[in-house]
Amino acid sequence: MFPTKQLKELLRKQARTVVLTGAGISAESGVPTFRGNQDSLWSKFDPRELASIDAFMAKPGLVWEWYLWRRKLIGGTVPNAGHEVLAKLQKLLPDFTLVTQNVDNLHQRAGSEHVIELHGNIHRNKCFDCGKAMDVDEFGSEQLPRCNCGGMIRPDVVWFGEMLPEREIAAAIDKSRRAELFLCIGTSAEVYPAADLPVLAKRSGAYLVEINPEETQISAHADEICRVNSGPALTDLWQDMNSMTEVHH
Ligand code: OAD
Repeated sequence: MFPTKQLKELLRKQARTVVLTGAGISAESGVPTFRGNQDSLWSKFDPRELASIDAFMAKPGLVWEWYLWRRKLIGGTVPNAGHEVLAKLQKLLPDFTLVTQNVDNLHQRAGSEHVIELHGNIHRNKCFDCGKAMDVDEFGSEQLPRCNCGGMIRPDVVWFGEMLPEREIAAAIDKSRRAELFLCIGTSAEVYPAADLPVLAKRSGAYLVEINPEETQISAHADEICRVNSGPALTDLWQDMNSMTEVHH
């Protein structure tokens, strides 16, 4: 039964909470996941290969075009119930940290604050050479624009083969170590170091909950598993918490 008594009790006690999200939480908004079935003009490409430094070095125009498409697609989506519940949860819990691997900005659009973005944000650009931040709108649909320094412009996201932003991963590790409750939502947990966070939290004593319709590497470590899509699962959790509050008043 989800949510269990234990989970509800931790939330009632306002446990220090960390949430890690992956592409699954945005699936119900219509953003394709990385490892799910693709059904689009880009189906013939593997997103895991396009989102890599090697791909950009070999075919920068193709990678840029793919990101333009993703950006446009994401621009046409709205946050779903899952994003919204997490934003509401943050207002209720004094020590709440949202860590995401998503670059789609949907958590922020739902009202979440201080989101730790481990893999950057697709709405920002930067120069491949000098690192200067570039406004997206400056380039619209132009083919592979260039910086004043001559470097290629790229989305400000983390690719395979690149380091995560230092401050973000350090903060995520620190919070995970001190978490009493860790919710791992909509991630295949196959990409490191993000995938280490739930296990780190669990080893440090946190109660680990997984919300994912499919089994992942985290499942074996989880104290509680909800095999339901994140929108309905988090809606249930929220409704349960509210009915709890009503009882206490
Ligand atoms: P994946 O595409 O690897 O995994 C998505 C997960 O979401 C899977 O485990 C699905 O079972 C689950 N899922 C699908 N629909 C869901 C729903 N409605 N509710 C809840 N879960 C659902 O995406 P990530 O784990 O985010 O990195 O992938 C991690 C990283 O790999 C990404 O940030 C990206 C990618 O390559 C980079 O680009 C560096």
